[in-house]
Amino acid sequence: MCGIIGYVGSENALPIIVKGLKKLEYRGYDSAGIALFGAAGFDVVKQKGTLSALEERLAGSTLSSFMGIGHTRWATHGEPSDINSHPHVGSKGRIAVVHNGIIENYRQLRERLTKRGIDFVSQTDSEVIPQLAEYYYDGDMLDTVVKVTNALGGSYALGFMCVDEPGTLIAVKKDNPLIIGVSEHGNFIASDVPAVLRHTNKVYYLDDAEIAVLTKDGVRFYNQDKDPVTKTPETVTWSVDSAEKGGWPHFMLKEIMEQPKIMRDTIRAAAEQAYLPNPGAAAGGLDVANFDKLVITACGSAYNAGVVAKYVFERLCRIPVEVELASEFRYKDPIVDERTLVILVSQSGETADTIAAMREAKSKGAVTLSIVNVVGSTISKEADHCLMTLAGPEIAVATTKAFSAQLVVLYTLAVGFAVRLGKLTPEQGQGMLEEIESLPEKTETILEQVDAIQKYASECIVYKSIFFIGRNIDYAIAMEGSLKLKEISYIHSEAYAGGELKHGTISLVEENTLVVAIGGCERLHGKIMSNIEQVISRGAKVLFIGNSREDDMGGKLSFVAIPKVNELFSPSLSVIVLQLFSYYVAANKGLDIDKPRNLAKSVTVE
Ligand code: M6R
Repeated sequence: MCGIIGYVGSENALPIIVKGLKKLEYRGYDSAGIALFGAAGFDVVKQKGTLSALEERLAGSTLSSFMGIGHTRWATHGEPSDINSHPHVGSKGRIAVVHNGIIENYRQLRERLTKRGIDFVSQTDSEVIPQLAEYYYDGDMLDTVVKVTNALGGSYALGFMCVDEPGTLIAVKKDNPLIIGVSEHGNFIASDVPAVLRHTNKVYYLDDAEIAVLTKDGVRFYNQDKDPVTKTPETVTWSVDSAEKGGWPHFMLKEIMEQPKIMRDTIRAAAEQAYLPNPGAAAGGLDVANFDKLVITACGSAYNAGVVAKYVFERLCRIPVEVELASEFRYKDPIVDERTLVILVSQSGETADTIAAMREAKSKGAVTLSIVNVVGSTISKEADHCLMTLAGPEIAVATTKAFSAQLVVLYTLAVGFAVRLGKLTPEQGQGMLEEIESLPEKTETILEQVDAIQKYASECIVYKSIFFIGRNIDYAIAMEGSLKLKEISYIHSEAYAGGELKHGTISLVEENTLVVAIGGCERLHGKIMSNIEQVISRGAKVLFIGNSREDDMGGKLSFVAIPKVNELFSPSLSVIVLQLFSYYVAANKGLDIDKPRNLAKSVTVE
């Protein structure tokens, strides 16, 4: 969590840093701050609250500098407050630092430095970094950064400025993302590409332990022995507009509406990477015939995509699939070996638990395949094989388009695997691929129903709790519907397998409980309708998302139609309704949809 940015160049750093922070705000929004290199030390402005509070503090500011660093915080150690905000400056006022990550040995370091007479002012783990840097500094900042990083335990992406080395910005990282952007007018460090996109699309992806030394004229890279390292910049294909709201009230709505396009782009690429010319051969020549089982591991919505995919892989490929929360997988001593394919699903490619799960799987000899949206991210680089989702930058904390892109990659892969394993003929595989290719157009017809969904959702803000039910693959997507609703609307919700209701949960259903029932699975239509009757007869109201309905059950059943498609791919259609429903419930409650409380988009700490 937390977003960091730094700039050194020929333009005024202040507006560049503030605008860059806006693009990183999805990473944390408890507080924000900047430090500019000034004539007499650093000019530091820090403010509790969202970035707009910092902007208000800075309104009319005449501050100006050729170099500065900025930070937007998701608090881990120490409450959100002005003093705990970054940048942190050592007590001599010589070194300023922004940090994303967690310093696990900060107590020991703090105790050691305190014994040497150094006074700490904040409750954060991060403050030990500038204090330690000032303690070590003897005229060579590169050397100081090496010493500091040798002393730090935990994870970090760091930006340093030193009063004694004007015009030099230093960056280093371990287990947290950091990119270096190079432009005509100056150079950048940033947690993510959108922060620099309006200035450049040329970026370097910093690797762990590499140190970048930036001046206005260029960037040099070093290893921990201070030997120069040669790196090649990459060209980012994301457009500037893709990271802008472009007239939409929220990024989430914009991203929901972008789904037909990103599905088309991703299906095309996935078909090329994972289907044609060799079905089932993902980048690098992966062969599914080498595996006895698949394990899919991920967090949050990416985990839900994995649960959907389990149904698809098992049905089409007849191969056992386990789906594990990455935070559990990493500590369970998982039973995987070289005959296991472990699939990591992640939008950011930087989720700490998913990275740890990947490393655990690799250490046990499993083959890893990642499905990732962010180019150059840790998971995309470290996994043995990688398939990219082409969702473009996703800014809203609640994922929508990246989730949809993950689903279509997983479907395409499953069809490819099934053909490779001889469970589908090439003709059947082609037919399945055509079904997947029909999803973007069918999604468009759902998006046309936005007004009706909005109207229905506006009446649902009164509920304290909402249940989501489905059977089989519809249960998997019910989990995503429930997560989406709770994270942005703060309404309690749970997802249940329809058949499980009678084993306990139905006791929660009472007069006017709302149950959202999903029925994309035509084969089980009768079963979900029975569940609907059961809850309605106990007083519930139901929103049914399916292909058809017989009657409105005395006005108790509302209905949103989704087009027919092979049931294995129907989650891609039901989820669009679920996303719009959640969005409009939250919008009607007047909530800050793109930045839900307590959450950050990219969970780079444990
Ligand atoms: O970047 P990742 O896909 O690895 O992130 C995983 C989860 O943190 C993420 O899906 C989270 O659950 C979203 N906020 C859900 O909308």
